[in-house]
Amino acid sequence: MNDTMKTPKVALGTWAWGDSGDAGAGYFGSSLSRDGLGDIAKAAQAAGFTLWDTAVVYGMGRSETVLGEVLKHYPRSDYQISTKFTPQAAGTDDDPVADMLEQSLARLGTDYIDLYWIHNPADVERWTPRLIPLLESGKVRHVGVSNHNLDEIERANRILEDAGHRVEAVQNHYSLLYRAPENVGLLEYCRDRNIPFFAYMVLEQGALSGKYSAQNPMPSGTNRAEAYNAMLPQLQGLIGGLYNIGQRHGATAADIATAWALGKGATPIVGVTKPHHVEGLIRTAALALSDDEIAELEVLAQSAGVNTRGWWEKDM
Ligand SMILES: NC(=O)c1ccc[n+]([C@@H]2O[C@H](COP(=O)([O-])OP(=O)(O)OC[C@H]3O[C@@H](n4cnc5c(N)ncnc54)[C@H](OP(=O)(O)O)[C@@H]3O)[C@@H](O)[C@H]2O)c1
Repeated sequence: MNDTMKTPKVALGTWAWGDSGDAGAGYFGSSLSRDGLGDIAKAAQAAGFTLWDTAVVYGMGRSETVLGEVLKHYPRSDYQISTKFTPQAAGTDDDPVADMLEQSLARLGTDYIDLYWIHNPADVERWTPRLIPLLESGKVRHVGVSNHNLDEIERANRILEDAGHRVEAVQNHYSLLYRAPENVGLLEYCRDRNIPFFAYMVLEQGALSGKYSAQNPMPSGTNRAEAYNAMLPQLQGLIGGLYNIGQRHGATAADIATAWALGKGATPIVGVTKPHHVEGLIRTAALALSDDEIAELEVLAQSAGVNTRGWWEKDM
C-alpha cells in the first residue's frame, strides 16, 4: 500500500468546469473561460486548497483537459488530482479501467493520479479488481469508491484487502437536503474506520448558495435548472437560516452550508466557479458552527420537504 493519503479540510470540484471550451455551457450553464479558471486555481493553490476532483464524464473530457491546463503552472507535488473510472462510460477493450485511466492521464498532463475512484457501483466484483494493477504500477496512488452503499463498500474493500490494499476514501452526495449517508450509517462507518468521507454537492449545485431564488432561478435549459428551479420556493426558509447564521459569523449562506458538512465530520468537495468562492472556503475552514446552529439548519432543511437525489444515484 502507498503512504497514507493526506486529506485536506475542503476539496475542489470541477464538474462545472466541463462547461468551458467548445460546446460547453451545458450542464450548469456557467460561462467559464480558461483564464477565469486559472485565477481560481491561483487563489486556491495559494490558500492551500490543493486537492482537485474531476471525472472523465464532466463535459466528456473538457473538465480534465482544462484542469490539466491550469495546473501545469504548478509543480506536480504542489497539487493532488482526484479523478474517476466511470463504468457506464467503459469501452470494450480488454481492460477498460486501465484504458480510461490512460486517457485521463493524457488529458491531465500527468503520469499519476493521487486518488482514483470507481465512480458508480455498476458491478463491484468486475471493476474493483482492476484497480489493483494500477495501484501496483504507481499510476494510481490511492483508491476510493463513490456512490457505493455500505454493502458495496465492504465488498470492494474485501477485494482490495486480499491484495494488500483497501478502500481509502468514500465519496457520496451529502448535504443539508440529502442526508442519506448519515441516515444509513455510512458516515459513522467511515468515521469508525478512519476512512475520509468526501461529501459532494453540499451546495446542491448552487441551490443552497443564496444566489438563486424563485425570482432569480438557475440558467434555463440546463440540467441543474431542471433539477432545482421548481424547488427553489421551498428552499427559502433554509436559505434564510443559512443567511442569518452567516451574519453572525461574518460569512455567506454558501459558507454556512459548507461549514455544516465540515461540522458533521465530512470533507466537502465544493464546485468552485469563481475566485471569490475560494475566499468563501477560507472563511468556512476557519469557522465552527455550534450544535444549536447545526440543529436549527437541519430542522429548516427537513421542513423544506424536498428530495435532491441525483438522477445517477441509487437509494443508499
Ligand atoms: N462522485 C459523483 O458522482 C459526483 C457527483 C456530483 C458532484 N461530484 C463532485 O463534487 C463537486 C461538487 O458538486 P457540484 O459542483 O455538482 O455542486 P456544488 O458544489 O454543490 O455547487 C457548485 C455550484 O455552487 C456555486 N458555488 C460554488 N462555490 C460557491 C461559493 N463559495 N459561494 C457561492 N456559490 C458557490 C457555483 O454556482 P454558480 O457557478 O452558479 O455561481 C457552482 O457551480 C463536483 O464539482 C464534482 O467534483 C461528484
